[in-house]
Amino acid sequence: MLVKATIEGSTLDSQVDARLRRLEERLVAEQDRVLPGVVHECVERARSRFASARVRTFVPILVERVVRSQLGTVTAPTEAWAWRTAKRLLSGELPRRWAHTQGVAGRARQIAWMFGPGDRDVLVAAAWLHDIGYAETVAGTGFHQLDGARYLVAQGVSWRVCALVARHSGAAAVAELVGLSGELAVFEDECGPVRDALWYCDMTTGPDGRPVSFADRLAELRARRGPDHPAVRALATNEADRAAAVHRTEELLCAGQRRAWR
Ligand SMILES: [Fe+2]
Repeated sequence: MLVKATIEGSTLDSQVDARLRRLEERLVAEQDRVLPGVVHECVERARSRFASARVRTFVPILVERVVRSQLGTVTAPTEAWAWRTAKRLLSGELPRRWAHTQGVAGRARQIAWMFGPGDRDVLVAAAWLHDIGYAETVAGTGFHQLDGARYLVAQGVSWRVCALVARHSGAAAVAELVGLSGELAVFEDECGPVRDALWYCDMTTGPDGRPVSFADRLAELRARRGPDHPAVRALATNEADRAAAVHRTEELLCAGQRRAWR
């Protein structure tokens, strides 16, 4: 038993080593103004910070976050960048998903007036990027929220946008069903009005990008995916959360409109 656990532990360590080596190579290739030795030192220093992490598979992603922040490469994505990225990944390969994404981003732009400039930009960028995890070049685990977020981390996108993408529209309940809760836990759910607004935009936009009611969106999801799909099975847990996010956003919109009319 002990021998088996030791072998599994050392296999995991060598997988983490390999991922860190690939991370370092990628960072060196991206950082044409930073010497490779500096990148190496940053990676090693960050790695030592997480030496006692209980879940070792998280270490590369935590190291990447720290190193990118140290190298000044973590950036808030502009809407233009988010749009270009989503278009490049989705429009050719998944035109219907691209139509949906355009609808979600359009809705986000319509309601973004509720927020200050920083939150507004975050919401619209996350709306453009929320479903990129479906693209073949991005998909890894097949859990699109997590795959999309990991891709964005690798692009140096601000952590908040990555986390919004990772957690959007009841991702936690799906993660439970597909055994990826531990991986998703790296990305915190900010549970605030911007997160609710992203869920609202997604939950009130159909697959063809047209506005739909929340009830129709869920009915369509059930019909399209079938009862065995994790996203449908997860509704037993996350339907109420999704409905609450939609409701809170509608309340905010109404309150904002009432203030504007006064
Ligand atoms: Fe979506």
